[in-house]
Amino acid sequence: MAKITKEKFKTYEGVFDRFTNKNLFKLISQGHFEGLCSPISIGKEANVFSAKTKDNGMVAVKIYRLETCDFNKMYEYIKHDSRFMHITKQRRKVIFAWAKREFTNLIKIRQLGIRVPKPITVLNNILVMEFIGKVEPAPKLKDSIPKNPDKIFKKVVEYMKKLNNNNLVHSDLSEFNILNFNNEPVFIDLSQATILDNQQTKEFRDRDIKNIARFFNKYSDKIKEEDIKKELKI
Ligand SMILES: Nc1ncnc2c1ncn2[C@@H]1O[C@H](COP(=O)(O)OP(=O)(O)OP(=O)(O)O)[C@@H](O)[C@H]1O
Ligand SMILES: [Mg+2]
Repeated sequence: MAKITKEKFKTYEGVFDRFTNKNLFKLISQGHFEGLCSPISIGKEANVFSAKTKDNGMVAVKIYRLETCDFNKMYEYIKHDSRFMHITKQRRKVIFAWAKREFTNLIKIRQLGIRVPKPITVLNNILVMEFIGKVEPAPKLKDSIPKNPDKIFKKVVEYMKKLNNNNLVHSDLSEFNILNFNNEPVFIDLSQATILDNQQTKEFRDRDIKNIARFFNKYSDKIKEEDIKKELKI
């Protein structure tokens, strides 16, 4: 019993301040969902919950914590994005811009034909999006042995190529930020995705390539970083 209480406390710690509660209530009154259901994840900057909709569907609600997040690091990342350069270094402004950036990225990247959660709305530090999964959230690639790793690998590289051709980079791509939904990859966690227009963002692209090559190399030792680079024509 004590353990459950402690776990529960950990889940909710630092998320539900008055401001966030007010915004959640607003989203509920706008009809985006009826209430939060279960916690899915506690990440470095955000907590993700599932939520039920009126028609018995589900959505995912990502709440960027206002207090316990590394906003200095967020600022360092976002200030290089030409779309968000005007942002001043104020905690809330940076966090709201971060959530907005994930929402904008989801719209843009989805339009390119890359499978990502469909964005629904963003309000300050809260992002509402399509729930990837049936009743349970789809597993991360790192936690699910792909039935057909070759097929998933090809799709992942196709998506990386589309991003690259459109001057975009995920910037945090790895088996942790790809869900395996019915043996199809879904890219998630797009708050860091940015425009590929300088040396730093090229380094992010190289890191993404390295991570993907390393992960799929477990299934086929023929997969090399160079092959992905060749495919991306870089
Ligand atoms: N749309 C979604 N549908 C289902 N599950 C999701 C969705 N978005 C996120 N998740 C789950 O929540 C986890 C955390 O999401 P995400 O990576 O976007 O947040 P994060 O706070 O940046 O996490 P981290 O700090 O661990 O990278 C994911 O690994 C996934 O399990
Ligand atoms: Mg993540």
